[in-house]
Amino acid sequence: MALRFSPDNEARFQALLARYPDRRAALIPTLVLANREFGYLSREAMEYVASRLELPESYVLNTATFYTLLRKHPVGRFHIQVCMNVSCYLRGADHLADHLKRVLGIGFGEVTPDGLFSLEGVQCLASCGTAPVIQVNDDYHEDMTVEKVDCLLESLRRQASQADGARPGTGGVP
Ligand code: FES
Repeated sequence: MALRFSPDNEARFQALLARYPDRRAALIPTLVLANREFGYLSREAMEYVASRLELPESYVLNTATFYTLLRKHPVGRFHIQVCMNVSCYLRGADHLADHLKRVLGIGFGEVTPDGLFSLEGVQCLASCGTAPVIQVNDDYHEDMTVEKVDCLLESLRRQASQADGARPGTGGVP
């Protein structure tokens, strides 16, 4: 099925068009919107954005590939980013990354078979004073240790199973 924005995101897109009469200025916020709507920016998603903004596909592709914030590959329900830059590295980020790889059974750039977690090593998350730092989706987790990572994973799994349990047809309360 062809991609399209949900009604809510279509309204947000229309608001962007009103705010940025120059369509090129609306490109990055529209890519952010598409990233959230479709989970990542597939080639199809970038073509969709190009057609909605009436911009050349090559222009959209070049812009999207420049920003690591914009995902070009599928990620898990919980996308875990481990800061590997110097402050975090000096405070054990490599041990956290190794631990995450071992317990999740995946490497950087991979997704667990159940689609729950994906892992990525990133550059400075701009919270060096609370290194080492991990970002899960939009949330920061600071002063991390291996023990805190284990608690975090457990809490994310519980959160996912509660959310699934609350959905009709997923074994939850009818
Ligand atoms: S080095 Fe990790 S947040 Fe800056």
